Amino acid sequence: MSIQHAVSVDDLRRLARSRLPRAVFDFIDGGATDELTLKANQLDFESIRLRPRFLRDVSKIELGTDILGKPAAAPLVIGPTGLATLVWPDGECLLAQTAARAGIPFTLSTGAGNTIEEVSAVSDGRRWFQLYVFKDRSLTESMIARAAQAGYDALVLTVDVPVIGKRDRDRHNGFTIPLRWSTRSILDFALHPEWCLQMWRQGMPRLRNFDAARGAADAQSHAALMNSQLDASLTWEVIAWLRQRWKGALLVKGVLCLDDALRAADHGADAVIISNHGGRQIDGVSSSIRALQQWGTQASARVPLMVDGGFRRGGDIVKALALGARAVLLGRPTLYGVAAAGAPGAARCLDILLEEMRITMAHLGVQRASDISRDCLDID
Ligand code: FNR
Repeated sequence: MSIQHAVSVDDLRRLARSRLPRAVFDFIDGGATDELTLKANQLDFESIRLRPRFLRDVSKIELGTDILGKPAAAPLVIGPTGLATLVWPDGECLLAQTAARAGIPFTLSTGAGNTIEEVSAVSDGRRWFQLYVFKDRSLTESMIARAAQAGYDALVLTVDVPVIGKRDRDRHNGFTIPLRWSTRSILDFALHPEWCLQMWRQGMPRLRNFDAARGAADAQSHAALMNSQLDASLTWEVIAWLRQRWKGALLVKGVLCLDDALRAADHGADAVIISNHGGRQIDGVSSSIRALQQWGTQASARVPLMVDGGFRRGGDIVKALALGARAVLLGRPTLYGVAAAGAPGAARCLDILLEEMRITMAHLGVQRASDISRDCLDID
């Protein structure tokens, strides 16, 4: 199948799977332990039903909306997924450019393969920076300062990684960053010569935002450094600490219960992203859409909500908006796209989802994304 013939996010996933070595595909596709939450993120959309309404003028569907006080072409954001350079050379730069062309924000991960500055150099679209607050606060401060200097307009504090989740697929595959050579991995890579050639030309993917702190040479130290720097002692006070250092919008990502959403609001977060890290951190927790459904209305009165996890159809996005989310972040979908075919693959992913959203809205009798409400759902 070629990229033009991909009609769904799942098609892009299949293309990505055939292009990437097994260990790399599993790294992006997999989740924690039994992957219950990973599966629930998608499955739980099935129990939410839409309510169609006809004979309302839907000749013009408008997806444009407002995200954090600024216009966006759709209620979508490309979310942070570390080390996109592992699936395609300059993966983050390509994703940022794709988002900019589509008129939606792009979020760069702390653990990205392209740097804060590289992404800014190639994209004048709206950029957000995802932050882990490290034990070494001066390292954290330098990343915040770099993001401000490079024109990022929001900081996304990820709170659901006190430690790295246990991902069995990665352990079975012996997957490490940087990639390690073993009999199995050499065979795996050899079966994917096109990807090997790309990586050989690009150089070994590494967490290049750490180059400034640790020098470019020692890729090993970058990944080890990031993991060892995760600060499991963080508390909500960290938001005030960030507020003193960051003038732009501050989002809290990784919230799954009402208590934490309200606490984020109390501490002055500009928005909360309901997320379980795409099922990659703790397994056995609620899907994101279920969390939104259960307590979204109680929280959205206090703080704007966004959500990610398991969105594979435009209809899924419409359901989240109907439940009160202001925007949806995409993790794997655009990553599958870029892995399948570089920038055109990522663009194809957005086109597919936007078309599905338009078709869904037309059947719901809703012209504007901002008019999607609980009324679009078959619940009382
Ligand atoms: C992620 N995610 C993530 N989140 C974050 O805050 N910082 C990060 O560095 C990463 N890295 C990362 C890498 C990969 C390969 C994946 C798949 C995901 C989580 C991501 O932002 C998002 O929460 C989920 O991916 C959303 O679920 P879907 O859209 O992938 O189902």
